[in-house]
Amino acid sequence: MSEAVTARRPIETYLAMHDEEIAERVEAAREELGSRVVILGHHYQRDDVIRHADLNGDSYQLSVLASRTDAQYIVFCGVHFMAESADVLGREDQQVILPDMGAGCSMADMANIDQVEEAWDQLTDIGVVGGKSTVAPITYMNSTAAIKAFCGRNEGVVCTSSNATKLFESYLKNYDKMFFFPDQHLGRNTGAKFGIPLDKMVVWDPHQDLGGNTEEALHDAKLILWRGHCSVHGRFKDWHVDKIREDVPGIKVLVHPECTYEVVQKSDLNGSTSYIIKTVEESPSGSKWAIGTEVNLVNRLATRFPDKEIHLLAPDLCMCATMYRISPQSLAWAMENLAEGVVVNEISVEPETSELANVALGRMISMTEG
Ligand code: 13P
Ligand code: SF4
Repeated sequence: MSEAVTARRPIETYLAMHDEEIAERVEAAREELGSRVVILGHHYQRDDVIRHADLNGDSYQLSVLASRTDAQYIVFCGVHFMAESADVLGREDQQVILPDMGAGCSMADMANIDQVEEAWDQLTDIGVVGGKSTVAPITYMNSTAAIKAFCGRNEGVVCTSSNATKLFESYLKNYDKMFFFPDQHLGRNTGAKFGIPLDKMVVWDPHQDLGGNTEEALHDAKLILWRGHCSVHGRFKDWHVDKIREDVPGIKVLVHPECTYEVVQKSDLNGSTSYIIKTVEESPSGSKWAIGTEVNLVNRLATRFPDKEIHLLAPDLCMCATMYRISPQSLAWAMENLAEGVVVNEISVEPETSELANVALGRMISMTEG
């Protein structure tokens, strides 16, 4: 990460301002910066941030789109791993800014590179890695650049929730086992699509020796799943599915594969945020949906399609609190500093890590696109 720079304007100045003044300031700074800046808004961002975004999308899409613009500055309204990916996939002359450094991802934080290296060493010591069978590490996009680089170095790959199935298909053909980080649910739900029995998908707890498994279970496993999860998607329970079906006859349940196995098994359809959006967009007027993903996205779909009945699957608020750290105030702060020539909160991945992360991302691209 690059060294901290001193902001010309302190963030505190913005906290007392009215919403409209903040919005005007963001737009004025954008006008001044012109095509030198692009503002990215992830699907889970709140409305008062999304209104300023030049591009909306999922994490991978946004990084690719930003790299194709002329912009020198990429202001990423998303979370830390997304900004890192934008830096890895971006051009050398582009700088990535995360308006609030507190915008992390609790799932990505559940795996750090030291724990992953330690796990790999333990698997090597017992002959699971480097023995008779072949093992490939696969990481979800929601992980640090260092873990992506680890996969790049060890014949592995990065996946998104849109292409996990396709990548599992190739890797299952060519390797005996996979070690999947950091989302156990996406890993299990994808493994189940290929008929891998639950007892062949063991969980690796980084706080226990051998991840809490016996040597035999690790040798026998087809998939080793890191013990990580999304606290937002984890709030959807299988009884929510039963309840909404009882309350709203004819409703279809559509969930993100970061939800638990039980929820995904009970749902009608599951897929990435882009898949969820497309499914609702293409559904007929009058159709009824209970959606299991982040509330800001679900609310926006409900506003966009008043002719469809759209519910959040759970009655309580499933909001990504870390995404919410990006506020109009922090965006205004980042943009006005930028307009004055000060790059605050730059996310810059160290070159060697970036190069290896790009190897794993490059494999993903060549195996899934074109
Ligand atoms: P996308 O890769 O679909 O943007 O999802 C990111 C995410 O954090 C989902 O919880
Ligand atoms: Fe991370 Fe979950 Fe938030 Fe996505 S919704 S950024 S996985 S905490």
